[in-house]
Amino acid sequence: MLQSGKGIFVTDADGHVLLDGFAGLWCVNIGYGQHSVVQAAKAQMERLPYATGYFHFASEPAVEFAAALAARAPGDLNRVFFTQGGSDAVDSAIRMIRYYFNVTGRPAKKHMIALDRGYHGSSSIGAGITGLSVFHIYFDAPSPFQHHIPAAYPYRFAGTPAELIADSVAQLHAKIDELGEANVAAFFAEPVIGSGGVIVPPDGWYAAMREACRERGVLFVADEVITGFGRTGPMFGSQYDGVEPDIMTLAKGLTAGYAPMGAVLLSERIYRAIAEESKPGAVIGHGLTYSGHPVSAAVGLEVLRLYEEGGIIANGVTSGRHLATALAPLGDHPLVGDIRTRGMLAGIEIVTDKAAKTRPDSALGVPDALARIGYRNGVIFRAFGDSMIGIAPPLVATTREVDLLVERLTRTLDEVAAMPDVAQALRTTAHV
Ligand SMILES: Cc1ncc(COP(=O)(O)O)c(C=O)c1O
Repeated sequence: MLQSGKGIFVTDADGHVLLDGFAGLWCVNIGYGQHSVVQAAKAQMERLPYATGYFHFASEPAVEFAAALAARAPGDLNRVFFTQGGSDAVDSAIRMIRYYFNVTGRPAKKHMIALDRGYHGSSSIGAGITGLSVFHIYFDAPSPFQHHIPAAYPYRFAGTPAELIADSVAQLHAKIDELGEANVAAFFAEPVIGSGGVIVPPDGWYAAMREACRERGVLFVADEVITGFGRTGPMFGSQYDGVEPDIMTLAKGLTAGYAPMGAVLLSERIYRAIAEESKPGAVIGHGLTYSGHPVSAAVGLEVLRLYEEGGIIANGVTSGRHLATALAPLGDHPLVGDIRTRGMLAGIEIVTDKAAKTRPDSALGVPDALARIGYRNGVIFRAFGDSMIGIAPPLVATTREVDLLVERLTRTLDEVAAMPDVAQALRTTAHV
């Protein structure tokens, strides 16, 4: 039970202070206790706590925030539809893609492709774009128009980065061929897979996949719910590879978790087609009561100011470089098979046999032990069910705080390695 937060630390109901190495849920990029954001929310609540976006109404902060995002987003992602979070941003994107192809006379374009291990939320259609089986089983997902290809997973690919990129591009082309180019609407991918275990693709992978989509007339949807707002270094993760997506989904860092909000950014071309090809006077039946909520938008504007004028994105770049350096020695730890980082986003893959890259037997309960012992050691990170660790500290973390995070994480890994069953599993493989 968490009670308060300051900087990169949170305090629980028993007064235990924890270093939040996961920024809440990869969202509190500006850290806790940013007073100017609280003031912005308060001022907006006093002025106008709510305005609908239906029936041609709008509020100033929502319009101003949309313009600010469009000005910063890559390419011609000039049009913004606000949601309440990431899942409904992905869901809205799917609805807009369907509408776009129907209204432009290509109703056969229905199929959508994404990556195994990708996460795109848990709405009833979006969960089928997600490539994690727990979001499918018993939920009748994915639907017959949703497909997956393997993720670019360098640690578990036998070949060079260039071969991995070529393999991914070939898999995408093969899937498009199988479904028929005329039937494929869109490809969804995160610049770095987050909830699927922080899987960092080779440099140039995202650009190669974008190019393949362009060649085949398939819309490229960048799901930047985690990677947006400096998490991987630049303002948007797509910019790392110089990619200009057709559609981008945002949430989390959009308001740094201080108020709920998500967004879909549409390219001018898609927006124009939807706006102009619809019958004159037609109502486009998509909306949300809290779309463009003025308080969330006011929060988002102040968060954006802190990212830029407050130097938070720049600090994340410096501390992100330091994070990679500080984590590197953990490569020698007996439980660590792989360390992957991009900016202030990192993943560690736990193995009990480094040579064979064997994941710990689930009976050892490694993820639960990591989370439990980490908590005791005063550090929060994500211990994924398949023994991967996710790290995403607030971008305000200093290099000293990054060191403290790594210190506490190392102690936690040491203690898990010393657990009798885990130590036995490590000894067994050492003897083989
Ligand atoms: C890439 C990505 N897309 C979509 C979502 C869903 O966002 P939300 O939990 O705000 O609905 C998430 C959440 O972690 C995400 O990481």
